[in-house]
Amino acid sequence: MSVAAIILAAGKGTRMRSKRAKVLHELGGEPMIARAIRAAAALEPEPIVIVVGRQAREVEAAAGFSKARFALQEPQRGTGDAARCGLSRIPTGFTGDVFIAYGDMPAITPATLRAFLDAHRKRGAKLSFISIMLDDPAAYGRVIRDGGGMVEKIVEFRDATPAERAVKEINTGFYLVDAALLRSALAELKPGNAQGEYYLTDIVAIARARNESESEKVEAWVAADPAEFAGINSREELANMEAEIRAAVNRKLMQSGVTLVDPPTAYISEQAEIAPDCVIGPNVQIIGMCKLGEGVRIDGTAWLSNVTIGPRCHLKLGVRAEDCVIGEDSEIGPFANLRAGTELAGHNRIGNFVETKKARLGRGAKASHLSYLGDATIGADTNIGCGVITVNYDGYDKHQTVIGDRCMVGCDTQLVAPVKVGNDVYVASGTTIVREVRDGSLVMSHHPQREKAGWMAAWRRQHGDSPDGSLKRTKDH
Ligand code: UD1
Ligand code: CA
Repeated sequence: MSVAAIILAAGKGTRMRSKRAKVLHELGGEPMIARAIRAAAALEPEPIVIVVGRQAREVEAAAGFSKARFALQEPQRGTGDAARCGLSRIPTGFTGDVFIAYGDMPAITPATLRAFLDAHRKRGAKLSFISIMLDDPAAYGRVIRDGGGMVEKIVEFRDATPAERAVKEINTGFYLVDAALLRSALAELKPGNAQGEYYLTDIVAIARARNESESEKVEAWVAADPAEFAGINSREELANMEAEIRAAVNRKLMQSGVTLVDPPTAYISEQAEIAPDCVIGPNVQIIGMCKLGEGVRIDGTAWLSNVTIGPRCHLKLGVRAEDCVIGEDSEIGPFANLRAGTELAGHNRIGNFVETKKARLGRGAKASHLSYLGDATIGADTNIGCGVITVNYDGYDKHQTVIGDRCMVGCDTQLVAPVKVGNDVYVASGTTIVREVRDGSLVMSHHPQREKAGWMAAWRRQHGDSPDGSLKRTKDH
């Protein structure tokens, strides 16, 4: 039995008060729509159709990594109309179940969806949807059952009678419907309701009406954990869910053996893989696909995005690193900026106020203070002194600097790229390197040092001071 999926994401999301489509707002570091697709993927649906309306292009881009198809709903005339749009992208020959979900329900878990599918199949239902019991059913659609407890219909809050509003079982908006039933039921929808919309929820009553004669079994599967069905309709709900997701990630990490010094200030993405015995200090953001090896220590105030960090590395206060690899046993910071394409082979040291970009450092190479290393390859065990700069940009193009193994690059050296320095080279401090340097050389470009004996005393006298500077009157500047 195959499954196809339709995710409805065309709605305006008025209560977000945003120019961005609701499903583009981010949760746990990714757009809501990406989460909805990931959850749906648990059912291995083929195809996955996403119904888009507002900012269709942007929504398509946000979902771009998946193999989803898109259906444009324009104008947006309700969830039933949206489902109809989605169905148009599913081959007419498809005979399995169609899973329908709303794109603004990002807390649902894959496990729950799999259990829902199991129940749907075991019961031999033609139409199932997930319901939950809520003490405060708010403005959700109410599940109305007949005297025998069979589901009769879903009534939207705005269309409900006072007695119906008192019902605490509500529709969560996840459905599994036999494809043939869905096609015929959607064709029967009418917008005769308070909002003048085509309600997807009406397919329940339509299927039930046929029940007697055609035995189309309709089931509501009551889910245990209402928290998974919180929708996002406002910025406040978005922030609350963000906090919940974050707390859940942190709990899981701590259970797996990671120390979070101050969990409320640890912002760690769900995709991060953090090995046991890592210690994460206060105010650390770990974004996207980061991998931290065993025993990594982050002192605090760090921003890491798509970074792989080898075992036992120590990130001191204030490290920013993006799209890079930090090999084992390295020491980074305090205050270091590792930009995209930085690759440290291991046992490296990147000290304070060092910026790297597309820089590959061999094992044991060090840059301990105040450097810019861009578009550079630096050999193993080479030491980059304080204030070394790769001059990589000529105003039009970027150029490569290559430095060999076991070099001593003296303080305040500039390497004007493209340029190559061999192995075992000693660069004297203050050198400007403009040409290739051969293996084993000493290289320097010093200005000759000049000295005028007794000059200081003359200078002081010229300013009315004594030769030892003792009369100096400070001027107002
Ligand atoms: C819907 C259900 C309600 C349920 C609730 C659960 C209907 C009629 N009502 O109400 O029973 O309790 O969800 O959260 O289905 N969308 C489109 N095109 C449209 C309209 C909506 O794609 O023309 C999409 C929205 O982007 C959203 C989803 O459908 O992702 C649900 O729409 P929304 O307006 O939020 O429905 P609710 O009023 O929450
Ligand atoms: Ca909603």
